[in-house]
Amino acid sequence: MTSEPAPTASDVGTSDATGAGVPGTAGTGAENRPNVARMYDYYLGGCHNFAVDRAAARQVLDIFPDTGVAAQTNRAFLRRAVRYAVEQGVRQFLDIGAGLPTQGNVHEVVQSVAPDSRVVYVDYDEVAVAYARRLLGDAARTVVVRGDLRRPDELLADPDVTAAIDLTRPVAVLLVAVLHFVPDADDPYAAVARLRDATAPGSHLLLSHLTLDGAPPLPAQRGREVYQQSTAQLVPRTRPEILRFFDGYELVEPGLAWLADWRPDGEPRDGVSHGFGGVGVRR
Ligand SMILES: C[S@@+](CC[C@H](N)C(=O)[O-])C[C@H]1O[C@@H](n2cnc3c(N)ncnc32)[C@H](O)[C@@H]1O
Repeated sequence: MTSEPAPTASDVGTSDATGAGVPGTAGTGAENRPNVARMYDYYLGGCHNFAVDRAAARQVLDIFPDTGVAAQTNRAFLRRAVRYAVEQGVRQFLDIGAGLPTQGNVHEVVQSVAPDSRVVYVDYDEVAVAYARRLLGDAARTVVVRGDLRRPDELLADPDVTAAIDLTRPVAVLLVAVLHFVPDADDPYAAVARLRDATAPGSHLLLSHLTLDGAPPLPAQRGREVYQQSTAQLVPRTRPEILRFFDGYELVEPGLAWLADWRPDGEPRDGVSHGFGGVGVRR
């Protein structure tokens, strides 16, 4: 495995620490609390983050210096998994927990191969949604919806979702780096099963999930403590726990794998996996 330097303050932009001018933030206090979408943006070297996000992200980077590389590895997995689904003929993509737009967005990967494809980005975070709407503008066949993975029926009934996605045809549901923000108390397994049951045979589940399998316990605990101050708690799961999300799906080769090892395609091997990923097909 190779290691590259994590992003530093000088690598990223300098969003106004007060949040002034940032869509969706006026009067919300969004700038006062580290936000998991914007911390992730910082790890990726993005500039859509506030001082409070950067401070929390730097604490995580102090504990796990390769977090930036691991975030890139997760994005590379997402691109490969999306390309795989397009190659299987899927033309509808429901990206739940989409986060802030970044390089290699799902609609760019999908529509470079199949321009007629539809992409729906969903996030429950109002700032992420506001940014996404502004940055994606009027990208064709692409919509941004505010919705919550924990309420799949509401999400699937959203008029923008029903207008874009035909549930009688195969759809790729992306749950990439999002389920580790949903605690067991919110029954993420039931939510994933509901999405599975609502989708047609031939639909794909593209999933990645943080694990602490193999991580030393003390740093892992400190990392989780940083997230306790943020907008969402971190819930890393073990490999068997992550595998359960694929109940009712047939995993494609190589199964549930470390992210860097899931069908590597010759892109520079970023190689630091903090999680497992896989693609399942609903038969
Ligand atoms: C680490 S980012 C992942 C972004 C993108 N999927 C990726 O992997 O590059 C996690 C995103 O999930 C969103 N999120 C967390 N819990 C959610 C929920 N219950 N419903 C919808 N989005 C959620 C956060 O707001 C954040 O934008």
